[in-house]
Amino acid sequence: MLEELKALEKRARAELEGLGALEALEGWRVAFLGRKGALTEILRSIGQAPPEQRPALGQEANRVKLALEQAYTDRAEALQRAEAQRQLAQEGVDVTLPGRPVAPGFLHISTQTLREIYAIFGAMGFQVFEAPDIETDVNNFQLLNIPPFHPARDMWSTFHTTREGVLLRTHTSPGQIRAMRQYCPEPIRVILPGKCYRYEQVTARHESMFYQVEGLAIGRDVTMGDLKGVLTHFARQIFGPERKVRFRASYFPFTEPSAEMDIDCVICGGKGCRVCKNSGWLEILGSGMVHPQVLRNGGYDPAVHTGFAFGMGPERIAMLKYAIDDIRYFFANDLRFLQQFA
Ligand code: PHE
Repeated sequence: MLEELKALEKRARAELEGLGALEALEGWRVAFLGRKGALTEILRSIGQAPPEQRPALGQEANRVKLALEQAYTDRAEALQRAEAQRQLAQEGVDVTLPGRPVAPGFLHISTQTLREIYAIFGAMGFQVFEAPDIETDVNNFQLLNIPPFHPARDMWSTFHTTREGVLLRTHTSPGQIRAMRQYCPEPIRVILPGKCYRYEQVTARHESMFYQVEGLAIGRDVTMGDLKGVLTHFARQIFGPERKVRFRASYFPFTEPSAEMDIDCVICGGKGCRVCKNSGWLEILGSGMVHPQVLRNGGYDPAVHTGFAFGMGPERIAMLKYAIDDIRYFFANDLRFLQQFA
């Protein structure tokens, strides 16, 4: 029986070594160490051996049992380690490989123009004030002196939402009301950049979505002279120090008086060309003194405070600056256009 035990140990070890995968281990354990396994069988039969042999047999059987159990654990660990190694080698990342080059990005031309505008007004003490794209009819129109059915509503074809009285702002001017209500009765010097939306036929000159930058200055002694000074300085900063400007009387329901500002044509220098339609002038923004009723709607007393406001389109400014002849390029996402401003 001793021989049998020795032979069993040898066979078990040999088979264990031959196992290539973790899954095969369980079969081996059942066959040799399991309740009906070969070793258990021998252990059971020790009772039938002559009494004087039993202690030695028992001892040897126990030694073989422990040895095989240990061998089993060792083998399991070795196989686990091998498996982990194999996975590492297969899925490992070679950190020494050179990376794939990432093309550096650049700012969209509208963003670049916006930032230029921020810098120019920032230097004159204007802060950026944020206002939402989704507005109420009250802010977008009514508090700006445009009641329902006012003919001036025709100036802004509007995207309405399914909620009554809520729309996509047609201009950044409702931000004037928000800024005034936030800061009243303090003086104000802000610009309000953001997207505007108009329900319009999209053409080379009209988009349904575009940016505007609104400006608002309110104080105790703000005059039309301040308006002209600030906007003339702006025009010369963004279009060049030699720019001539002119203010033409105009109409906006929320400013009185109102004026549009033109610069002499950046293409022909005022001689007349296709871009300025032979007039020598280019319109770049709308402006005016804040209407007394609008001041009141913002919380200010027009007997104490006055203010000026203006609104411009950065895409239009970029079009004039870079002689871009179609506003649709801006948001068509054609890299051949956008990369010219990288
Ligand atoms: N909101 C006007 C527009 O979209 C522009 C404007 C702003 C005019 C502020 C005067 C004062 O056309």
